[in-house]
Amino acid sequence: MNASLSPAAVEFPDRLVSALRNARRIAVLTGAGISAESGVPTFRDAQTGLWANFKPEDLATPEAFRRNPKMVWEWYEWRRQRVRTVSPNPGHLALVEMERRVPAFTLVTQNVDGLHQRAGSRHVLELHGNITRTKCFEEDAAVESWPEDGEVPPRCPRCGGMLRPDVVWFGEMLPEGAYAAAEAAAEACDVFFCVGTATVVYPAAALPFAALRAGATVVEVNPSETQLSDQATHSLRGRAGEHLPALVKAAWPEP
Ligand code: OAD
Repeated sequence: MNASLSPAAVEFPDRLVSALRNARRIAVLTGAGISAESGVPTFRDAQTGLWANFKPEDLATPEAFRRNPKMVWEWYEWRRQRVRTVSPNPGHLALVEMERRVPAFTLVTQNVDGLHQRAGSRHVLELHGNITRTKCFEEDAAVESWPEDGEVPPRCPRCGGMLRPDVVWFGEMLPEGAYAAAEAAAEACDVFFCVGTATVVYPAAALPFAALRAGATVVEVNPSETQLSDQATHSLRGRAGEHLPALVKAAWPEP
């Protein structure tokens, strides 16, 4: 069954509320949409401002970095500064609350902004890295500090190679073990949430389908339709910052 709800009338099907209330294991996949209400731009919604004319696929690759390291570094520096000035929103906070309520909770994110951790989520599997960390392009090893001599991108203090953000670019491997852990959680959970992701970048996009195949209740939260919408057990059409807190409240009303 597929229930479409408008955010104005946040009333959920009984089946969804009881699935949540009885769940022993919940897994959640988040994407850029959950941070949109904090003011972090998503990748595929219409872009505005400085970087409006660039496709992420043309900036987030090792080839793009080799071709124009300064531009790619500056794009990430712009995103990093954005992330520094924003705060977690009610969608992030609802997931912290959910983690407190179930025995086994796995939060898998494609986001690199660290907002789940800042909200208070304790176990976060970051599939695409974290924008606040830096590593050496040559050595692929973390770098904590570097000489601030104005060079862009800065240079590795060990080998002199260029520094880059510690994120996963298109064509690169995910952090070791992260996807296997995410897939195991998707296949073992009772309820799987797919929140704020266009569900087009693999392997993350395969997770809700793995959960469906394993028999989980799959709940999508997104204002727009995705390739998951028709197959999800419940497709909640609206914002994460509205639907997630309302769902937590419906499933676990305060005593
Ligand atoms: P996208 O920008 O592709 O998709 C964002 C999704 O969030 C869209 O489906 C929107 O409809 C939805 N959305 C917008 N506002 C929302 C809100 N308030 N609440 C809920 N949903 C909302 O971002 P991702 O799917 O996360 O990878 O993109 C996946 C990956 O592609 C990213 O991790 C990044 C990107 O290129 C790399 O850089 C490797």
